[in-house]
This record gives sequence, structure tokens and C-alpha cells, in this order.
Amino acid sequence: MLKDEVAVIYGAGGAIGGAVARALAREGAKLFLTGHIRAPVEVVAKDVASAGGSAEAAEVDALDEQAVDKHLLSVIDKAGRVDISINAVGISNTKILGVPLLDLDLEQFSRPITNYARSYFLTARLAARRMVAKRYGVIMTVTALPSRTGIPLVGGYGPAMAAKEALTRELSAELAPQGIRVVGLRPQAMPETRTIKEAFEPRAKASGMTWEEWQEFLASRTHSRRLMTLEEMANVAAFMASDKASGMTGTTVNLTMGSLDD
Ligand SMILES: NC(=O)c1ccc[n+]([C@@H]2O[C@H](COP(=O)([O-])OP(=O)(O)OC[C@H]3O[C@@H](n4cnc5c(N)ncnc54)[C@H](OP(=O)(O)O)[C@@H]3O)[C@@H](O)[C@H]2O)c1
Repeated sequence: MLKDEVAVIYGAGGAIGGAVARALAREGAKLFLTGHIRAPVEVVAKDVASAGGSAEAAEVDALDEQAVDKHLLSVIDKAGRVDISINAVGISNTKILGVPLLDLDLEQFSRPITNYARSYFLTARLAARRMVAKRYGVIMTVTALPSRTGIPLVGGYGPAMAAKEALTRELSAELAPQGIRVVGLRPQAMPETRTIKEAFEPRAKASGMTWEEWQEFLASRTHSRRLMTLEEMANVAAFMASDKASGMTGTTVNLTMGSLDD
């Protein structure tokens, strides 16, 4: 589906970024993988290469405008263009979750809102500036259930996810006329990821549930009574990045397996 498409992934050393990288590589994309720490990105790039794919790793802080732009310039130098830009950056949940809103300090509340919106805006805007010349491209990000439903003890994370979904719509309204699609993924919790374990821990005491009980509780809210795997999520991301999804823009795909109505 993605033969020779040039894709840049931010946060590629993470669970979602890494899984999406592997799925895009399987579909033939040439990958430029980035993260603010190089080592985990190298691991994913090596994995992709050993499976016969093409991937280069680089250290890029997705909150640093100059670093993102410099890296995109190097991608254009090497590959001639950028077709797909995916922001899968995640801020450590231990720093933002678990405190009731009544007790939450302003900095802790603001951190996810500022960082998630800023990083997505920067990576999307800088990629779009390159894509406009070819009138072709796909910009993508990842959000989560609190964008659309009230969940206790998630602080500024819900508003941050809602902001990213609003930005997806706005970017699409301005960029789709120029051939650039902007789409988002809103997955259900994937228990094999560190993120979900970290998100559970601060709430465990308050809810009195064990890790196993919590997974069962989350799964019980889905229609299929189970949680999604990283691979299932990444397969949808590969489809959305491909021309097979050419009719899809300005939307965030609800991957919550029925636990949230749009
Ligand atoms: N996991 C799930 O089940 C799930 C479900 C729905 C939505 N989400 C959301 O999807 C996003 C990604 O989740 P994930 O599970 O893949 O998280 P993750 O495994 O923690 O991956 C996020 C990656 O982003 C990197 N990163 C952090 N700050 C960065 C920066 N400034 N520049 C570049 N890279 C940076 C992290 O590096 P370090 O680890 O070195 O900081 C990490 O490699 C998060 O917003 C998460 O809330 C996750």
C-alpha cells in the first residue's frame, strides 16, 4: 500500500510509533524515524531493516522547531520529499495523571496541553510546508478516549487530546484543498504498552483495582470484550496513510472498539 512513500515518524521509539513504523515498513514505506533519545529509535530502525525494510534513525526533539525543520531538510536531501508525517510522541503519564482536579497545580495541568498541542502543531506545520510543493501528503497523530469523554484523574490530558483532534480538523480544512490529508487515530488502551501500565498505577489506589481487574474493566466496556493489540492499531494507521484512504481527511478514527460513540 505504501511502496516508496517517504514517512517521518516522531516518537518512533515508543510503543505506538514503533508499531506504526513496522506496519508502514511492511507496506513498503521508506522510514525516517525520530525520537528525543536516539537509542530506542535505533532499535526500531534495526528491526525494520532486519525484516527487509528501509529505516534511518535520528535524534530529534519534537518540541524543538529548529531540530524538526533541520531533520526534514535532511529527509528531503536524501529522499527528495516527505509524503507522510506521523506524530506519536507521548509524555510520561506519571508526570500528568493521578491528581484530582481540585488539587492539581497549574503547571501539571498545563504541561500535556502545551506540549502535545505544540509538538503536533510544529511537526504538522513543518511537514505541510514541504508537502504543499508536491500537493501531496498525509499528516497523522494519535489521541485517546479522554478527548471525548469524562474520565477521572487524567488532569490536562483530556483537554490536550481534544486540542489535537480540533487541530486535526483545522489543519485538514486548510490543507486538504492543497492535496494534504490530515487524520487522527484514537485507540482504546493497549495493555502491552508501558503507557497504559503507567496510566493505571496512579489510579490503582483510588480505584482499588488490580492491574488484571483494570484490564478486564476496560475490556468489558468494548463491544468485543477485549482490548486492542498494537498490531491491530498499526494496521489501521498504515491503511490511513495509504491512498486507499484517499477519501478520509479532517477526522479522527474511533478505534475504541465500541466503548465510545462518536
Ligand atoms: N499506549 C496506548 O495504549 C495508547 C492508547 C491511546 C492513546 N495513546 C497515546 O498515544 C501517544 C503515544 O503513546 P505510546 O504508548 O506510544 O507512548 P510511549 O511508548 O511512551 O512513546 C512515546 C514516545 O515519544 C517519545 N518522546 C517524548 N517526548 C518527546 C519529544 N519531545 N520529542 C520526541 N520524542 C519524544 C518518548 O520517548 P521517552 O520514552 O524517552 O520519553 C517515547 O519514545 C500518547 O499520547 C498516548 O497517551 C496511547
